[in-house]
Amino acid sequence: PKNVGILAMDIYFPPTCVRQEALEAHDGASKGKYTIGLGQDCLAFCTEVEDVISMSLTAVRSLLAKYQINPTQIGRLEVGSETVIDKSKSIKTFLMQIFEECGNTDIEGVDSTNACYGGTAALFNCVNWVESSSWDGRYGLVVCTDSAVYAEGPARPTGGAAAIAMLIGPDAPIAFESKFRGSHMSHVYDFYKPDLASEYPVVDGKLSQTCYLMALDSCYKRLCEKFEKLESKKFSMLDADYFVFHSPYNKLVQKSFARLYFNDFLRNASSVDEVAKEKLAPFSALSDDESYQSRDLEKASQQVAKQLYDLKVQPSTLIPKQVGNMYTASLYAAFASLLHDKNSSLEGKRVIMFSYGSGLTATLFSFKIRDGQHPFSVSNIVKVMDISQKLKLRHEFPPEKFVDTMKLMEHRYGAKDFVTSKDISLLLPGTYYLTEVDSMYRRFYAKK
Ligand code: ACO
Repeated sequence: PKNVGILAMDIYFPPTCVRQEALEAHDGASKGKYTIGLGQDCLAFCTEVEDVISMSLTAVRSLLAKYQINPTQIGRLEVGSETVIDKSKSIKTFLMQIFEECGNTDIEGVDSTNACYGGTAALFNCVNWVESSSWDGRYGLVVCTDSAVYAEGPARPTGGAAAIAMLIGPDAPIAFESKFRGSHMSHVYDFYKPDLASEYPVVDGKLSQTCYLMALDSCYKRLCEKFEKLESKKFSMLDADYFVFHSPYNKLVQKSFARLYFNDFLRNASSVDEVAKEKLAPFSALSDDESYQSRDLEKASQQVAKQLYDLKVQPSTLIPKQVGNMYTASLYAAFASLLHDKNSSLEGKRVIMFSYGSGLTATLFSFKIRDGQHPFSVSNIVKVMDISQKLKLRHEFPPEKFVDTMKLMEHRYGAKDFVTSKDISLLLPGTYYLTEVDSMYRRFYAKK
């Protein structure tokens, strides 16, 4: 099979959200800290009737219906998530309900977990399967689903929630350039979830930012090396049309792109103009460690990279800014934003994707956008996802109600023997929701 990649996509995020401007005021943070400082507009969250399982049921059902895929045509289903509902039973098994109905239980794959990287692991597994000798000709399906919630404090505004479903197969409009790839993996404690009684992570915010940027540098160097070996020319940011980043919050994305610019400067790549060279020259002798700490470098590189950022990164920032960090779905929601913004003008373009999961695992990889055959074309994917409408139909909660919801969810986490309020008035038709967790911790869902 050739040009294996993403044939179709759909995205779901909860209709309930809180404005960062309101949250900022409510938390007593200085004005502009969440909106300008973190670069975020809104944060979506699950109320008691939604969770990672209901969101992924909604996304999968919707994708199959809108692209008219019969559930029997799926041969592999992989889920990426870091939201733990059960330590043994995979989210994938909950999704099997959709396929069992049609008599299809012959579906490989389970869940992949490592912070925000699980979705990328799931995607690579599916692509590898289609490219392998065990492929049986059917489609692969990847689901990224997470509810990102933090304890009260500085990390709370970087929460979010969403599920994304992606259909995998050959002759895809979003094809992998599998040769151009660089990974960086190591053992660190920047963000982790050791307390199994709590949904909240333990997070060293500053360390996680530095780890993210170090991993990006390392992946970029490796991707450049591979590109140069295969293409016999130096890689620079000009060789890619767009860069899409895992987006915990937009400010880190701005810093990341600036960091790539600084890398190009150090490698004397063609993307850096004379003015930029002059501005960055004072930082060329910094050690790696010093360079992560230098506020002046951060500022100077963001400034010189600004014009390219607007062209190559900004179009992928809509959903992450509006929904927040969606953990495993974050990178793919950023990619969906790019599709939404640029639509069929993406044909022939190269998109570089950066996936980061704390702990840590990171990969920089490349997509080539191709002309697709209906229903598997970029323009149809954009139509199906209908992002503007989904954003428009949301309901803003006041911060107090958001905080109350977080408290209720803390209480419900790991609990049994309860029914939900079944207030589903805010959910769109076709949305799955949680109705009950029985005395055996078994979870029950219904569809609106
Ligand atoms: N107006 C404008 N900007 C402001 C204002 C204001 N009133 N107040 C603060 N800022 C700026 C700061 O200068 C800073 O920007 P800078 O980094 O460009 O200087 C930014 O707002 C954030 O302020 P900090 O004081 O650095 O924020 P704090 O330390 O309180 O929290 C953090 C930020 C660490 C990101 C926290 O939200 C967090 O821990 N989040 C979760 C961890 C995370 O997402 N890590 C990323 C990778 S790992 C992952 O994906 C989970």
